[in-house]
Amino acid sequence: MNDPNGFCKFENEYHLFYQHNPDSSTAPGDISWGHAKSNDLFHWEHLPIAMHPDQDYDRSGVFSGSALVENNTMYLFYTGHVNHPGESPDHIERQALATSTDGINFIKYENNPIILAEEHQPDIRDPKVWKHGNTYYMVLGNSFNNSTLGRVLLYTSKDKISWNQVSIIDESNGTLGYMWECPDFFELNGHFVLLFSPQGVKPEGDKYKNLYQTGYIIGDFDYSTNTFKPLQEFQELDHGHDFYATQTILDNSGRRIVIAWMDMWEKKYPEQDDGFNGQMTIPRVLFLTRSGRIIQKPVREVKRVQGKTIHSRKADGGTSVLLNNNAAEVSIIASKSNDLELFIESRNSSKAVSIMFDSRNGKVSLDRGGDDGLRRTDWQPKDNLRMKIYIDASSIEVFCGKGEVTFSSRFFPEGPVQVRLGDESTVKLLQVVDLKQTVFVDNNNN
Ligand code: FRU
Repeated sequence: MNDPNGFCKFENEYHLFYQHNPDSSTAPGDISWGHAKSNDLFHWEHLPIAMHPDQDYDRSGVFSGSALVENNTMYLFYTGHVNHPGESPDHIERQALATSTDGINFIKYENNPIILAEEHQPDIRDPKVWKHGNTYYMVLGNSFNNSTLGRVLLYTSKDKISWNQVSIIDESNGTLGYMWECPDFFELNGHFVLLFSPQGVKPEGDKYKNLYQTGYIIGDFDYSTNTFKPLQEFQELDHGHDFYATQTILDNSGRRIVIAWMDMWEKKYPEQDDGFNGQMTIPRVLFLTRSGRIIQKPVREVKRVQGKTIHSRKADGGTSVLLNNNAAEVSIIASKSNDLELFIESRNSSKAVSIMFDSRNGKVSLDRGGDDGLRRTDWQPKDNLRMKIYIDASSIEVFCGKGEVTFSSRFFPEGPVQVRLGDESTVKLLQVVDLKQTVFVDNNNN
């Protein structure tokens, strides 16, 4: 899998689609939309592939897109990708629509594609659609100026079928890459968030160290003129190695929930040899602080997977706790005036991730070893240093403080995993809680 797609709530269940190649774990191939649904965002039931690349206009890939639910119908907006090898341009991208009334079977609209946008070819993709008043809005990622600059276009429609471009939400001035993928645009605590995944941003100190980034620009938006006024610079949403191509939804209770692909293009993680590739992050609720920073909290449904508490007390340097099934929720409370060093490591090999807080310089880091192991950013804890860390079979998600800094990184330990405090670190609380398995494993039929 790669990007999450079509995240929505339909008849009281969450549906999540994703870029999926059923034939290979090593190549993207002609991508389909995989499909799963859930009551609680943690236990997912797999459903049949929702859309295959089986039409002239999407034959090289049913690329990313979003869902809109209206009148008991699910409307999926997506990009039909078609390769033209040896020609210039060598591909074309048009927007298409499919619908479902049962949430399982999807019918592609007979007059697809609904947006041709000849003037914006060849990279125009990943429609995100929402409704405001009586109008439907769509943002699309685009590359312009001979594929050297990225931007986000805004389209509107009265009927979901016929669309017109009304503005450019924002564009690269040269420092923000050549293509903006997977745009999303929504209101959060009184401002607007342009969330997108730019390709081609150059590394700058501790920033932008992944192949591609995901981040946001906070601003104000005027629906009467369709203009966006940025108030700040682009900020990365997560500081780990594997966080890309986000999707958000506003659920019935007013939560803005984000989910990201927890992987990165061109990585060759060992799971590919086991026949699978990629995973999603824990869904997180977004909030905007007064200073214009997005904070992320795991959705409260995480309670549904919490198991037994296996450690919960003050801990001195060197304390280690062995995890059950290599998965756990780890909570730390410590003084913000001391450095902290915490290891998540294979008990029987040298594979380890270290999480550190440098109190003098106000920096927090995650290092998974190797050439490109270190990720680091600024962090000033408020009163105490607090962290919540979700460890799963091949991933680590760190939430610092209230969620003002997060790190999401894949990690492939060997054998049993333990959490260990560095020799010089003392904490007021080290709590380790089991995480229950959510996937049904049928040992008879595999
Ligand atoms: C982002 C992306 C999207 C595209 C999809 C193709 O990871 O490149 O822009 O729609 O993946 O799988």
